[in-house]
Amino acid sequence: MRLGVVGHGGRISGMIKGPFRQADSDLRVVAVVDPDEEGARSRLAEEDRDDAVFYPSLDEMVRRGNLDALAIGTRCNLHTPYAIEAAAYDIPLFLEKPVAINMEQAIALEDAFEGSACPVVVSFPLRVSPLCTITREYLADGAVGTPEHILATNYVPYGTVYWDHEYRNYDITQGLFLQKATHDLDYICYLMDSPIVRVGAMHTRGRIFGGSKPAGLRCSACDDTETCLESPESRKRNSSGGVQSDHWCLFGEDCGSPETGMNEDSSSALIEFESGVHGVYTQVFYARRDAGTRGATISGYQGTLRFDWYTNELHRVRHHRPFSDTIKAGGGASHFGGDTELARDFVAVIRGKGASRTPIRTGLESVYACLAARASAETGAFVDVRQVGAVS
Ligand SMILES: NC(=O)c1ccc[n+]([C@@H]2O[C@H](COP(=O)([O-])OP(=O)(O)OC[C@H]3O[C@@H](n4cnc5c(N)ncnc54)[C@H](O)[C@@H]3O)[C@@H](O)[C@H]2O)c1
Repeated sequence: MRLGVVGHGGRISGMIKGPFRQADSDLRVVAVVDPDEEGARSRLAEEDRDDAVFYPSLDEMVRRGNLDALAIGTRCNLHTPYAIEAAAYDIPLFLEKPVAINMEQAIALEDAFEGSACPVVVSFPLRVSPLCTITREYLADGAVGTPEHILATNYVPYGTVYWDHEYRNYDITQGLFLQKATHDLDYICYLMDSPIVRVGAMHTRGRIFGGSKPAGLRCSACDDTETCLESPESRKRNSSGGVQSDHWCLFGEDCGSPETGMNEDSSSALIEFESGVHGVYTQVFYARRDAGTRGATISGYQGTLRFDWYTNELHRVRHHRPFSDTIKAGGGASHFGGDTELARDFVAVIRGKGASRTPIRTGLESVYACLAARASAETGAFVDVRQVGAVS
C-alpha cells in the first residue's frame, strides 16, 4: 500500500508508524512533499527512510508516485490549500484537523469537494473512540429518551503546548476553538445527532499566558527559572507536566495579545442544535495533573449518561427506575483508542472495504461551528452557524 504524505511532521509520522502500520503492515510511505526534507526523512520509519522520494509539489507527487493513498499532516493553515488540490484526484485522503482556519478557506474547501470522488478520513479520533461510539449506542437505545441537553468539558492538562510550542502562532492556529474545540464540537454533534445552528461564546485571553517577556525568549536564556512555574526545573520538581526541556517562554510578547490575536486561557460556547435543544462546551488550558477531564453529560427525561475519556468510564442513570451503572473501557491507547479506529477506517477506505466515519462534511460542519464560536466571542453577539450546502 503506497502512501504519499504532505507535511511529514510529528503528528502524522506518529500516526503512520503506530496506528496505520498496525492497521496494515503492508503500508509504506513512498512519497513526501515537505520543504524540510532532512527533518521529514528523520521521522520516517526505518524501512521507508531510504526509499521515500521527495517531490516539490502534491501534483507532481500524485502524477509520478503511483499512490494508493494520501495524507496531509501540515500545520493548520495549509490543510485547506493542499486538500483542495487533493480533491481533484480519486485517491483516499487522510486529512488533519482543523480542515480550515477561516471562512474563506472553509467555503473554498466545501466547493472543491462538491462532486469530488476523493474519499476523506478527517482526523477526529474522539468521534470514533470506543467510549464515544458506545455512548452513541446507548443514546440510540433510548438510554436518556430524547437527548435534551449536553454539557461538555475539556480541562486540558497539557495546555501549555499551546504556548511553548509552535501552536502559539496565532496566524497558523487562529485560536483554540479551531485548534481544540473542533474535536469536541464534532463529537457533540455526533452524540446529539444534530448540527449546531447558533452559538454564543466567550473567551478569556492574556490573563495567564502571554505577557511582556521579550519575543523569542527561551528558558535557557532567562534569569527567572528558579521561581517560574513553567521552567523545566519547576515542571520536574512539581510533576506539573509539559515539556521538561528548554522551551519558549509562555509569558512572552510573541504569544500575541487580545488585540493582535492570541490563544485563549479558557473559552466557552453556548450551543443551539437544529433539533431545538441546547448545550454548553467549556475548555480550560491552564489545568494540570489530576484536573484533566474531557467528556460530556447528556440528559433527557428518561435518564443521564456521563462519560470521561480520562477515567475511561461511562455512567448511566435511569431517572425513573432505581438502577444506575458504570461501564469501564480498557485504557492505554492513543487518543483513547480513536487513533486506532481512524487508521482502521482509512485502511478500509483504501482497500474499498468500508466507508469513512469522519468524511469531509464532518470537518466542515465542525469548522463552521468553531468559526461562529470565535466570531461570537469577539463580538459578544450570538452567531448563526453556516451550514454545509448553504448558498453564499
Ligand atoms: N487529530 C489530532 O488529534 C491531532 C493531534 C496533534 C496534532 N494535530 C494536527 O496536526 C497538524 C500538524 O501538527 P504537528 O505537531 O505534527 O506539526 P509539525 O510542525 O510537526 O509538522 C508539520 C510538517 O509540515 C511541514 N511543512 C511546512 N510547510 C510545508 C509546506 N508548505 N508543504 C508541505 N509540508 C510543509 C513541516 O516541515 C513539518 O514536517 C496540526 O494542524 C495539528 O492541529 C492533530
